Amino acid sequence: MTSRYARIAGWGKYLPERIMRNAELEELVDTSDEWIRSRSGIVERRIAADHEATSDLGLRAAQEALHCAGVDASEVDLVLVATSTPDYAFFPPTASLIQEALGARNAGAFDMNAVCSGFVYALVTATQFVLSGACKNVLVIGAEVFTRILDWQDRTTCVLFGDGAGAVLLQPTDRPGGLLSSVLGSDGSGACHLLVPGGGSRNPASHQTVAAREHYLRMNGREVFRFAINRMPEAVATSLDRAGLRPSDLDLLIPHQANQRIIDWAAKRLELSEEAVFSNVARYGNTSAASVPVALCEAIDQGLVRPNAIIGMVAFGAGLTWASAIWQWNT
Ligand code: UT7
Repeated sequence: MTSRYARIAGWGKYLPERIMRNAELEELVDTSDEWIRSRSGIVERRIAADHEATSDLGLRAAQEALHCAGVDASEVDLVLVATSTPDYAFFPPTASLIQEALGARNAGAFDMNAVCSGFVYALVTATQFVLSGACKNVLVIGAEVFTRILDWQDRTTCVLFGDGAGAVLLQPTDRPGGLLSSVLGSDGSGACHLLVPGGGSRNPASHQTVAAREHYLRMNGREVFRFAINRMPEAVATSLDRAGLRPSDLDLLIPHQANQRIIDWAAKRLELSEEAVFSNVARYGNTSAASVPVALCEAIDQGLVRPNAIIGMVAFGAGLTWASAIWQWNT
């Protein structure tokens, strides 16, 4: 049976215990706390323990989301994991590892990779499964251990990223709201600006790829910055328009937490006040697909998401990709 609306019935997050402050990075590369703070707004980030992989982080967030919703793992129909740092380079899917560890024995499971835009892509995808009537309980997880693909000799990238996971449980409901509109975008002409050049089918792992440090992330920061400051506000404006709303109708914008300057720029372009835009980039850095769900969990826990609130979730990342969702809180 089809359902008219989807709702977020539960939410959870997990951040590894270990905190790495900017001062520690000063010991590794030629950088400074002042440079990192002023150019990105980042003060500290979390680093997964040696024994922790992406599925371990995602599992903890998913367990919290199920507990919050009061739903048993056996009732989950689908586990959807947004990640670009899976436990294994090719397979099995990280989603299957989480499904097994959860005891979600009745669930299908698959990964989605839209990098930093991944969670918003996955949320929009999962909503379709709920609205079509195909699923009653869908776990949507954004989980990353980005610090494992960082080149700790490259000061232009290693200072920016961190590890974490966030999850939501989606269910059908008769209460109006949920996903009002979305924008999913991609411009593959910018693929070269943010990539891991080695280890895939184009440039398989070899002694040479490892020696050339091609298994690590590489980024043209300036190009990604330029792309982000344009695309992010544009995507929000378009999705609002599709919902028949204006920026002033937004109660809270939850943007991808990559750089405080990008967040501030988007807020300015959309004429949103500081209070209407959530930020925790100072504490976690860029956690890629985990950034939006972790921020959403913190916004909810801080009482910033009230009944019927109109929330915007927006992200951008490698691909280049972008995604925006307008969600009315009907939980
Ligand atoms: O989820 C998507 C992921 N990616 C992003 O969101 C990244 C988007 N881009 C950015 O956030 C910014 O471009 C950065 C934070 C990466 C860089 O900020 P910027 O203001 O664009 O700096 P820049 O790249 O123009 O570099 C300015 C200077 C350069 O020196 P020169 O060439 O002017 O002499 C860099 O070499 O800063 C230097 N620099 C550093 N200095 C100290 C670059 N990284 C560092 C560093 N510490 N960590």
